[in-house]
Amino acid sequence: MEYFDTDPVRLSGGKKSIIIIDQRRLPGELVTREITSAKDMYDAIKTLAVRGAPCIGIFAAYCVYVRAEHTPDGELDNELSGFAEYLNSSRPTAVNLSWALSQMRAVLDESRGLTPTQRREVLLKKAQQIHQSDIDTCEKIAEYGLGLIKENDGVITHCNAGALATSRLGTGLGPLLLAARRGIKLRPYVDETRPLLQGARLTAYELQKAGLEPTLICDNMAAYVMSRGLVNTVFIGADRIAANGDTANKIGSLSLAVNAKHFGVPFYVFAPRSTFDPKCKTGEDIPIELREGSEISTLYFERPIAPEGVRCLNPAFDVVPHELITAIVTEEGVLSVGG
Ligand code: MRU
Repeated sequence: MEYFDTDPVRLSGGKKSIIIIDQRRLPGELVTREITSAKDMYDAIKTLAVRGAPCIGIFAAYCVYVRAEHTPDGELDNELSGFAEYLNSSRPTAVNLSWALSQMRAVLDESRGLTPTQRREVLLKKAQQIHQSDIDTCEKIAEYGLGLIKENDGVITHCNAGALATSRLGTGLGPLLLAARRGIKLRPYVDETRPLLQGARLTAYELQKAGLEPTLICDNMAAYVMSRGLVNTVFIGADRIAANGDTANKIGSLSLAVNAKHFGVPFYVFAPRSTFDPKCKTGEDIPIELREGSEISTLYFERPIAPEGVRCLNPAFDVVPHELITAIVTEEGVLSVGG
């Protein structure tokens, strides 16, 4: 199996549970877990065992189907709509979660005239279609993105928008993974991405597995590498894009964009159309997840590094205003925005 064939979530052989790669354990251990209960599904998203906007959407779709398999015939409608609401409350920023859940609910509603067995079948088909469509979308996005760079370019990326965050090629990492597949040399720079280190733990891992040779930097070194002319472009993913192009992505994306503007480095956002949320007019309408301060002060350190009781502010995402974005790349092409 090539690295690009990675599916971080998939159905088990018997189709009664979901097998996930537990992303909290990477890169030390590549561990899979089997998930069946509603609580484990919620926790997998909340604790980032399953993470990355498109991957959360694919997982949510399979979750609805698997819960249907474990729900008595007469309770499908009540049980599944309550479950969808519960799962939707696990994380607020990535719109792919509510998008996938509303797709599944629509199928559930439309299937009311069918038998319970047929209803479960249509839910399965829809979840599989959401998964397959993400694989196809990532291929297209990667192809468009590869057209924006040339051999030996330095590309800086933030967080993880690769196979682990989607299926197969990823969005922001797609062009790099596609370049690796085609033997095109690039110079990837990877922000470590404090506090949960998705860059250091997951992006560096993925790029190495694909045969690229990433250079890992701390988030606060991005301006340094730009000032030295080491990077030609910024490629990131997105969790939610407002109608005016303002883009929420992992905390730190905004400072990367400000630095890119200052140094004249083009800033590209990569995302499927399903990441656009027309209900949000601007970035101000995008809900930003706040997480536990202990992720800053304690987690991933041998011992707590901050004085006990210190107040921490831990927003998981920030919004890059559209003026700082050169273009948004979707499965439909490259959409110029403003930067
Ligand atoms: O908190 P995470 O790890 O789920 O955040 C993920 C990101 O910010 C990604 O850049 C985004 O979801 C795009 S993934 C293709």
